Amino acid sequence: MSQEQWNSKLGFIFAAAGSAIGLGAIWKFPYVAGTGGGGAFFLVFLLFTLLLGAPLLLGEFVIGRRTQSDAITAYQKIALNSYWGWIGKLGVITCFILLSFYSVVGGWIILYLFEAIRGGLNGLSQDQFGPLFGEMISEPITTLFAQFLFILLTILVVAKGVQKGIERASKIMMPALFILFLLLVIRSVSLEGASEGIKFFLYPDFSKLTSEVILLALGQAFFTLSLGVSAMVTYASYLPKTQNLPKSMFSIILMNLLIVLLAGLAIFPGVFSFGLEPDAGPVLIFAVLPAVFSQMQFGLLFFIAFLLLFLFAALTSAFSMIEIIVAAMTRKDRSKRKKATWIAGLSIFVVGIPSCLSYGLMSDVLVFNLTIFDLFDFAVSNVFIPLGALLISIFIPLKLSKSELMEEISLGSKKRKVFFLVWYYLLKYFTPLAIVLVFLDVLGLI
Ligand code: PFF
Repeated sequence: MSQEQWNSKLGFIFAAAGSAIGLGAIWKFPYVAGTGGGGAFFLVFLLFTLLLGAPLLLGEFVIGRRTQSDAITAYQKIALNSYWGWIGKLGVITCFILLSFYSVVGGWIILYLFEAIRGGLNGLSQDQFGPLFGEMISEPITTLFAQFLFILLTILVVAKGVQKGIERASKIMMPALFILFLLLVIRSVSLEGASEGIKFFLYPDFSKLTSEVILLALGQAFFTLSLGVSAMVTYASYLPKTQNLPKSMFSIILMNLLIVLLAGLAIFPGVFSFGLEPDAGPVLIFAVLPAVFSQMQFGLLFFIAFLLLFLFAALTSAFSMIEIIVAAMTRKDRSKRKKATWIAGLSIFVVGIPSCLSYGLMSDVLVFNLTIFDLFDFAVSNVFIPLGALLISIFIPLKLSKSELMEEISLGSKKRKVFFLVWYYLLKYFTPLAIVLVFLDVLGLI
């Protein structure tokens, strides 16, 4: 059966950018940067994004478009009768665990949205949003219900198929998100005392740069670009041979970095201006952003609009996670798509229950001193994803010849030799070496 395809060139870019831009840039980046010391983390993150993330993104596009296959089959098609299919399997398992806690945060957005619409945020002072939010997410029934709703929305869209569901909405919602973020930044950087926050975010204090922080920045760079789990392989498998892959890569990197920059500039000035703590952890943006919005005319309305767009951004990422799983599950029989989506979604919900309760009933259950939520997050972001990225960067130059790669990259664009060589060598040597060094460093072996 032939592969379903994206409707237009822009459709693919929006969908891939939709996968990339999500909780990673908006929710996770600020709090990890906040605990990792701000500017130094941001700088390392930026370097990893450009030198490792960008080449790998193009690499995943190449595998997907060339094989027109799901995450598992793609590797098996290139390296026949081998164990390389495990890269895809690792990606599928990672996405499963990832979505199980990602959906918890998706649920938090839904809860906050209801709270804001209900009027529960009216008249609060700047330091009251954090405690209110903390209370909200410790409530077991409502948070579980919200998490379920988030997964349900994901199932309903993805079960309908690739193009119809994902493509249409992205074209409106993503630009709207940019615009709202821009407004937010303008308000945030003009708050009293904002310069402290800008400095914290953009001025690198290298004394804060520990091995741990470098690992977090590495994981974050891959996480925000949806790399290492073959999400981009799967999305690129729905591409026609006419798409210009390098151009798509650049657009996505650019959009992603822009959102990260906007998120940082929206949040840190607010944190410092209101005397909040930058290392508040996963609740950071939920405590800070409503406080910034409350300083605007029609702030509550804008905040509700923001939450809607934020929810959309989280959903478009969740679509891609479940899409990888479903594409792999239905690789032998596409007609089972609907059933597979429901099975995957519901089991992810069940596995995600302990993560959801980690902020309430199960907050005392610790493994390696981490709550289940933090443990899953750490394992996915800082172990599985970088590991997947490492394997993919080894796989590509090993199993595809330079001329095959050159040919695939040049389809839909001109042959650019210098660009190709820079990409090839970054991917072949720099990416695996850097990942291995970061791992060794954090394990204390170098
Ligand atoms: N890039 C997404 C984000 O930053 O929220 C997370 C993600 C989506 C990771 C899809 C991996 C993936 F397959």
